[in-house]
Amino acid sequence: QNIVQLNRQRRMNRVKKVKKAVIPAAGFGTRFLPATKAMAKEMMPIVDTPSIQYVVEEAIASGIEEIIIVSGKGKSSIEDHFDVNFTLEENLRKNGKNEMLTILQKTNIPSIHYVRQPYPKGLGDAILQAAPFVGDEPFVVLLGDDIMPNDIPLTKLLMDTYEKTEGGVVATMRIPNNLVNRYGIIDIQDQVSEHVYSVDHFIEKPNLEDAPSNLAIIGRYLLTPEIFDVLRSQKPDSGNEVQLTDAIEALNQIHPLTAFEYTGKRYDVGDKYGLLIANIEFGLKKPETAKKMHDYIIALSKELKK
Ligand code: G1P
Repeated sequence: QNIVQLNRQRRMNRVKKVKKAVIPAAGFGTRFLPATKAMAKEMMPIVDTPSIQYVVEEAIASGIEEIIIVSGKGKSSIEDHFDVNFTLEENLRKNGKNEMLTILQKTNIPSIHYVRQPYPKGLGDAILQAAPFVGDEPFVVLLGDDIMPNDIPLTKLLMDTYEKTEGGVVATMRIPNNLVNRYGIIDIQDQVSEHVYSVDHFIEKPNLEDAPSNLAIIGRYLLTPEIFDVLRSQKPDSGNEVQLTDAIEALNQIHPLTAFEYTGKRYDVGDKYGLLIANIEFGLKKPETAKKMHDYIIALSKELKK
């Protein structure tokens, strides 16, 4: 066991600790118009909590110390959300609403920084805006459209995998075949260990005929800083977007990454249907709404069956 411990210690000394997270939040959110005309899509609530808060909480629960949100025009509500609202706090305090005060103060997160993406030039370009903040360290990327409630946060699972593989790790999940053209898809090389695969190719949104598998990239990545050099020299695609998946594909040829297969629950809240499902299922779990929602759904399903 001493040797096991010693080897682990040696490895830990070699791989740098992952301390930083990048959360891109610059997209227009056109799928949710008109709600997103004047409001950040990341502020769309699941019951009572903006979706981006779940993502920030996942990063913090995984041990991340500093977060940078890549924002853009019309996104100031995100900054306000994680800042102190002094007037509101005073008001709640004065009126003895201590429970609400605690809920409110949980959203005061000083370790969040902001940078703007000036042009909507894709996910890869958004990540590149965070390069000065990340520096020469490994970091994680969390996309706000994917909410993955799991006992061990998915970001933490990627961090644990990185400690063993010492290379970048991309979170993936099996999806129905007919959806492959909406995701980055993995061409698996070999199984490395339980849930972990080496990868021949990362392919952004292939047609069903060209898809080598149904193992899709979901919105969590652990990347090493070499990705920035790739992104800097990468040409935008035909839609004038710099794709992160293409940069990962190029990086994989020099510094191999692995794919981690997640098997837990995922909500795609970047989609109307996914957001509705998340609201229903989270509502069924919240103590204040659980019973009423349950009874309502039973009654509604009887109604629908008629
Ligand atoms: C992005 C990535 C894609 C990934 C997906 C996960 O696509 O480009 O590779 O599978 O996130 O949600 P988007 O959803 O921004 O079109």
